[in-house]
Amino acid sequence: MTTLPLLQVAALRKSFGGVVATDDVFLNVMKGELHAIIGPNGAGKTTLISQLSGALMPDEGAITLGGMDITNAPAYRRARMGITRSFQITSLVMEMSVLDNVALAVQARKGSSFRFVKPARKIADIRDEAMTYVRKLGLRKRADEPASALSHGEHRQMEIAIALASEAELMLLDEPMAGLGPEESRLLTDFLLELKGSRTILLIEHDMDAVFALADRISVLVYGRIIATGTPDEIRKNRDVRHAYLGEE
Ligand SMILES: Nc1ncnc2c1ncn2[C@@H]1O[C@H](COP(=O)(O)OP(=O)(O)O)[C@@H](O)[C@H]1O
Ligand SMILES: [Mg+2]
Repeated sequence: MTTLPLLQVAALRKSFGGVVATDDVFLNVMKGELHAIIGPNGAGKTTLISQLSGALMPDEGAITLGGMDITNAPAYRRARMGITRSFQITSLVMEMSVLDNVALAVQARKGSSFRFVKPARKIADIRDEAMTYVRKLGLRKRADEPASALSHGEHRQMEIAIALASEAELMLLDEPMAGLGPEESRLLTDFLLELKGSRTILLIEHDMDAVFALADRISVLVYGRIIATGTPDEIRKNRDVRHAYLGEE
């Protein structure tokens, strides 16, 4: 039996003027997999994510989600199909409380399915559910504070809570550890470990300890091209990768 990948990317190409940011990228992400993309600055990682979320349209190539061609689908439709993107683009409303930020994501997901429920009951249900995500991310004590009162690390945790609340099928995480201290990075790594398997995650991350601890598979992007895909062990041993990226003999 073969299982179809949740996400399939074929021959994806995107240029900015003379710069080829993604060059003939092929990538399969299986359902439930945590797939990491690593590569030096400017390799095209964020450009790849942007083409998956629909923020950028590819020049060439194809993207399918669950067998459906989404190459030309607008971002809002991909979001409705279960692709969420976090980090490097912040989605928090700073004036609103932590809980309300998460509640907004729950409400957006539930949409019209709540039409026949009494408003008071509906609000209570949404807040209850939002609170479970807030608690999961260790932000219970901060729930009623405005988002603006939280630290950078806590904002990252909030973004994960929002992605969870949206019940994303595919979470695109672009450098969630950037700017975090070692303790905060460890907390986020632990949380992602716990999440593993229940969501499909495409993780871009510079923190190699986090990547090698978390990933089922890793793809290495260099100058817009994927030079290797494999398990953490295979990637660690791969000569091309060591040469081009890990920078060792
Ligand atoms: N909007 C843009 N306009 C022009 N060039 C861009 C744009 N976005 C990215 N690039 C270029 O494309 C290349 C890949 O960038 P990026 O995807 O941000 O890499 P990474 O996320 O791996 O650091 C870089 O050379 C960058 O300068
Ligand atoms: Mg980037």
